[in-house]
Amino acid sequence: MIEAVSNNSADATGPGERTNMSNPRERYADRVIDGKGFAEALRGRIGKNIAAINKAHGLKPGLAVVLVGDDPASKVYVRNKEKAAAEAGITATDHRLDASTGQAELVALVEQLNSDPAVHGILVQLPLPDQIDPNAVIDAIAPSKDVDGFHVINTGRLATSQMTGPDAALVPCTPLGCRMLLEDRLGDLSGMNAVVLGRSNIVGKPMAALLTQASCTVTVAHSRTKDLAEVCRRADILVAAVGRPQMVRRDWIKPGAAVIDVGINRIAAPSGEDPDKTRLVGDVDFDAAIEVAGAITPVPGGVGPMTIACLLANTVTAACRQNGIEPPAW
Ligand SMILES: NC(=O)c1ccc[n+]([C@@H]2O[C@H](COP(=O)([O-])OP(=O)(O)OC[C@H]3O[C@@H](n4cnc5c(N)ncnc54)[C@H](OP(=O)(O)O)[C@@H]3O)[C@@H](O)[C@H]2O)c1
Repeated sequence: MIEAVSNNSADATGPGERTNMSNPRERYADRVIDGKGFAEALRGRIGKNIAAINKAHGLKPGLAVVLVGDDPASKVYVRNKEKAAAEAGITATDHRLDASTGQAELVALVEQLNSDPAVHGILVQLPLPDQIDPNAVIDAIAPSKDVDGFHVINTGRLATSQMTGPDAALVPCTPLGCRMLLEDRLGDLSGMNAVVLGRSNIVGKPMAALLTQASCTVTVAHSRTKDLAEVCRRADILVAAVGRPQMVRRDWIKPGAAVIDVGINRIAAPSGEDPDKTRLVGDVDFDAAIEVAGAITPVPGGVGPMTIACLLANTVTAACRQNGIEPPAW
């Protein structure tokens, strides 16, 4: 387990140091899981692997990014993904379609990308406009190119622990990144009680599958769970993916537990600040939780950067498998 918890950490600031010990983030700095730093290091390793694969096999991984419509948040996500891909040495191709695009037209584009040998990964940014059924589009992506890991074939492979070999699962990026952060901080997760708060197809369910594979005892909690706080308090590992700002309170957390906050919620700035200002918070009340947790991811700077890094890793994995090359172990 993680180190014992003290709520009375000494304010051991040395002469000349200007640390603000009333700020819990600084006071318990060693409990913060630095997802941003981990993701940067992972992206560095991905770039080196791509260079080596290119040198040895003449292969350059290709990622096709498809965006339908003008959703501002989606535009930012897509831009960040394409920039990160290019920096790592992945050829990112951009496909922008009008908001009025029909399902048949989008599926036709996906099928064209499926048969393009220079494209190893296909990402269709969600959400899609109302006239398009996202499942129909995800089903159209070749499972070997489904770098988001949302296709039912990849979901099934993950659920049945098919994690190695040419037909192994491509795993959804966010939970994959969460597991990497947990294993980096805790080592072997075997035997730990894990509670996954949220049961979505893109986060909660694959997260539960990954933790089950890591031999955790997994509970999946959701909006119908009774006595949620009590369920969460049993967790050595608590993954919050609900989309409810700061819902997880300090007294929901077992002392010493590792807390992974997947939530990204935009809320109004604190009173006294510009009312037009907003700030990002997670699903966990970070400043209170860090006083109890043994380790915790911040928002921003925790899980978010890992999601993009894992998309790049999945693209390299997909490119290798499609070309009979052993993918790197991330
Ligand atoms: N960091 C990243 O890269 C990243 C990636 C993906 C998502 N996210 C963020 O993660 C959060 C979750 O995303 P998602 O796509 O998984 O969300 P989602 O599809 O809306 O699923 C939310 C889950 O939370 C459960 N839930 C909602 N309110 C609850 C409550 N009051 N008590 C208990 N459970 C509750 C829901 O239960 P029911 O099933 O019973 O309705 C559902 O299973 C969002 O803030 C999203 O923005 C971040």
